[in-house]
Amino acid sequence: MSRYAIYPSLSGVPVFITGGATGIGAAMVEAFAGQGAIVGHIDLAEDAAAELGEAIAEAGHARPWFRKVDVTDVAALKGAIADFAAQAGGLGVLVNNVANDTRHDPLETSEESWRKCMAVNLDCAFFASQQAIELMRVSGKGGSIVNFSSINAVLGPANMPGYVTAKAGLLGMTKALAREYGVDKIRVNTILPGWVVTQRQLDLWLTPEAEAEWMEQVCLKERIEPRDSANLALFLAADDSRMITNQHFVIDGGRV
Ligand SMILES: NC(=O)c1ccc[n+]([C@@H]2O[C@H](COP(=O)([O-])OP(=O)(O)OC[C@H]3O[C@@H](n4cnc5c(N)ncnc54)[C@H](O)[C@@H]3O)[C@@H](O)[C@H]2O)c1
Repeated sequence: MSRYAIYPSLSGVPVFITGGATGIGAAMVEAFAGQGAIVGHIDLAEDAAAELGEAIAEAGHARPWFRKVDVTDVAALKGAIADFAAQAGGLGVLVNNVANDTRHDPLETSEESWRKCMAVNLDCAFFASQQAIELMRVSGKGGSIVNFSSINAVLGPANMPGYVTAKAGLLGMTKALAREYGVDKIRVNTILPGWVVTQRQLDLWLTPEAEAEWMEQVCLKERIEPRDSANLALFLAADDSRMITNQHFVIDGGRV
């Protein structure tokens, strides 16, 4: 049995997550499914999504809806959200989770690769939100949009200028949409995780030396797991946070 909270207000609610096949996204697909939400997600990683769906079904929860979509294809992205909502009976929650934190030298970044970086890290969150807001307004019930930024949006480390710029852009987008659609009972908030231990981070960047340095900088000397971010996303999606909007939440063990 889970030691974490159950939110009755999430039961039966349609929840759409971008980049849900691995990492934090997969933890959220699993966590929302565990709440009895109707979960849909998109990703490029079909095999990982199939495995995740299997594991969730085996745990006794409804198998999540999945479609292989490249989020930089805006028509396909919006189409997937609309199709999921048509089948799920609307949309209550959108989690803009997808990202790509590939490192690049600022002075050697081409116009094309900059545009690609914005497309996956910022633009898709805007266009997914556009589609979600339309659906949430039609229902009259409102909803919750949860964006994933990063503490790097405020720390600005080297070698990832596109990612840092896009993640900072999400903070502004959160404010703009929260202000404009609060009247429709649509809440918009952003989570800024610290270094979360996912397989991708372990494979690419989270070396023992880098982790030791990280641990020097944080108050809580423990790894941040994907589920820690998922827990905050659940709260921001549930009615327990019904008067919280327009906010940014850092979850980094006390680094920032
Ligand atoms: N892991 C961390 O340490 C960390 C730290 C701060 C912020 N974040 C943020 O949290 C969120 C989730 O992080 P994560 O580490 O799990 O991310 P990740 O990069 O490991 O996973 C993102 C998912 O998106 C998918 N994806 C990538 N490009 C895609 C595309 N074009 N179309 C469709 N799917 C695509 C990937 O296959 C993957 O399943 C991201 O927004 C990330 O920026 C993560």
